[in-house]
Amino acid sequence: MNTILENAKDIAINAGELIKSLYRINGIQSAEKQDHTLVTKADISSNEFIIDKIMKFYPNDGIISEESGTVFPPDKEYVWIIDPLDGTTNFSLGLHYWGVSIARLKHGQPDLAIIYFPLLGELYSAQMGHGARLNEKLLKLNIKESLHRNQIFTHCSRTQQLYNVTIKYKTRIFGSAAFDVCAVASGRAILAFNATPKIWDFAGSWVIIREAGGEIATLNGAEPFPLVPNHDYKDASYPLLATPSAIVFKYAKTHILPK
Ligand code: IPD
Ligand code: CA
Ligand code: CA
Repeated sequence: MNTILENAKDIAINAGELIKSLYRINGIQSAEKQDHTLVTKADISSNEFIIDKIMKFYPNDGIISEESGTVFPPDKEYVWIIDPLDGTTNFSLGLHYWGVSIARLKHGQPDLAIIYFPLLGELYSAQMGHGARLNEKLLKLNIKESLHRNQIFTHCSRTQQLYNVTIKYKTRIFGSAAFDVCAVASGRAILAFNATPKIWDFAGSWVIIREAGGEIATLNGAEPFPLVPNHDYKDASYPLLATPSAIVFKYAKTHILPK
């Protein structure tokens, strides 16, 4: 693993442990943001910790984060994109599926990523062209195996409301967009669909699933990357589909139809 990925890994692990120290099995208090999504003191503390560390290591790089600064900075070769706590609702209720997602964009394109789920003991890492790993084990999707073994379709809670879904696989709602895609990258789910994720929800998992050999793209053909300088991504969302192969992607496209 190169130094940048090592540094990002340390930052994600430490942010995850910080969040874990605030985790309670019977939940913690949350507040509602303007967009009606939740935030806790763990989101804020993790965000501050990650930004502080990235700025110490890479003072010339830009940062875009769900919790602070959603405009893509101009004139930066490298920009870090942070979801300091993905799965805040789960976290605030004392459920286990939540994690930290840190990705680095090069010229607006996802280039490397670390996603850490502390309570699941899963650390995903990837760099474009260098493979994806789960806890240091190389991920390599095998579509034949996954078609036989893994029959799980994971999606977000808004999917049924916004789409007509006729997918034949069993469904699961994990409550973390990052975990959904990682579940496909690690061969445990055959399909992941999120109706309205923002770029920080999937910039990291984008690298991980592509490097694992899977497919990730929007259902409507919109291209989220490269990000556009000076554009505010606060309200931009993308219907995102991840699968182990192009065949499954094609199947899913004709079985998840906008209402
Ligand atoms: C949310 C979670 C959720 C997904 C939402 C995201 P947050 O992120 O990933 O599973 O359905 O679209 O906004 O708010 O917990 O970081
Ligand atoms: Ca998120
Ligand atoms: Ca978040």
